[in-house]
Amino acid sequence: RAQVAREALDRLVVDVPDFPEPGVVFKDITPLLADHDGLTAVVQALADAGRDADGATVVDKVVGMEARGFILGAPVALALGAGFVPVRKAGKLPREAHAVSYALEYGEATLELHRDAIAPGERVLLVDDVLATGGTVKAAGELVAACGGTPVAVAVLMELGFLDGRAVVGDLPVHSLAVI
Ligand code: PRP
Repeated sequence: RAQVAREALDRLVVDVPDFPEPGVVFKDITPLLADHDGLTAVVQALADAGRDADGATVVDKVVGMEARGFILGAPVALALGAGFVPVRKAGKLPREAHAVSYALEYGEATLELHRDAIAPGERVLLVDDVLATGGTVKAAGELVAACGGTPVAVAVLMELGFLDGRAVVGDLPVHSLAVI
């Protein structure tokens, strides 16, 4: 399954040079999302990060990070028979939320999670499209922990290996369908 997903990524993710700023190569996943076979392959492969060796689901919730983590995380949750929970950028959630801020190259970002979205003791799979510096995943893990939940793994389509986000994420196992 991982191999089929990898082929879909190679075929359907488009590199866009100099977006959103000069020198950055943006990974556009919209052609992948638009392709039923490709989307199916990557959702199934991401979901495997929430299963044990016998194929049993080992998580209660899938957390997806705004914005592309929403698109991928919800079908992963369905595939696992788990619920889906969004981690949102600051000021978007309507009820009481935990907040975690982290440093960006310039400035800082804040992510939020409804306090009651994860019950104490629940096991959580974090899903996003890209692991870059790791700041987003680290903050999401801290938000889950603030609810009393346990992040058990991270699943991403692509990992930018040269940024070494894994070091920032720490002990949490990272499942990336492609390291680029
Ligand atoms: C991108 C990407 C991840 C995050 C990874 O999101 O979708 O969520 O950056 O970067 P990091 O590992 O350095 O934290 P972005 O901030 O562009 O938000 P968007 O999906 O709402 O456009």
